[in-house]
Amino acid sequence: MSTRVIADVDEVLTTTRAVRRRLDLERPVPREVVEECLELALQAPMGSNLEHWRFVAVDDPEVKLRIAELYREIWVETVEAPLAGGEAATVTRLSPTTRADEATAARQQRVLDSVKHLVDRLEQVPVLVVVCSVKPLPDEIVGGRASGYYGSIFPAVWSFQLALRSRGLGSVLATALAHRAEQVAKVLELPEDCRVVTLVPVAYTQGLEFGRGSRGPVSDVLAWNGWGERA
Ligand SMILES: Cc1cc2nc3c(=O)[nH]c(=O)nc-3n(C[C@H](O)[C@H](O)[C@H](O)COP(=O)(O)O)c2cc1C
Repeated sequence: MSTRVIADVDEVLTTTRAVRRRLDLERPVPREVVEECLELALQAPMGSNLEHWRFVAVDDPEVKLRIAELYREIWVETVEAPLAGGEAATVTRLSPTTRADEATAARQQRVLDSVKHLVDRLEQVPVLVVVCSVKPLPDEIVGGRASGYYGSIFPAVWSFQLALRSRGLGSVLATALAHRAEQVAKVLELPEDCRVVTLVPVAYTQGLEFGRGSRGPVSDVLAWNGWGERA
């Protein structure tokens, strides 16, 4: 068992951030720590009571480099080029200029800068965990089967991230990698039924202090018994 440096559940839940700039790229991550955190993650709920999740943990420098190159292509194609070209959907989704006020615009600019920071050095992250699913693809983009598809993966991914945090490691949910799912599958020699859902880069963090995320109040998003009765 590796050492838990943060044992309080509420502290882990409120301070597990998307870590990019503060990943310690020099400190190796033992395989046992990744395996222990995944063992905890497998306690998460899953649809149909079937373990459709698969994980490929990559610590081989050459394989990491190939994944990093694909990740850089994705950044250019889905963020850099469309923002530079003023493509409407991407501007609305990602540009700080479309945020409601100065504070949220500044927050979005910080996120973009931080994403780019990781894009530029992804291959230096000690372990890249590629999360996959062998669940049959849903035939609709929303609805029960679609919820079941992603809902059978992300609880485990989040538990993995929480377990890492409690042991002094950081991670980030990098779903963007799924834009190159087929190429990643080739690099990792995945079986045909195994689809890439997300990437989770893993490293020890530089320091253990992380704050609460900036979120709106519960009353903005909660209603009781129907949307008319707002909390
Ligand atoms: C569905 C989803 C997809 C995400 N995809 C990416 C991604 O591709 N790359 C990345 O760097 N961060 C990604 N993130 C992390 C978010 O940017 C991050 O959670 C958000 O900015 C809030 O920051 P916090 O988690 O530190 O509070 C993703 C998060 C979620 C929930």
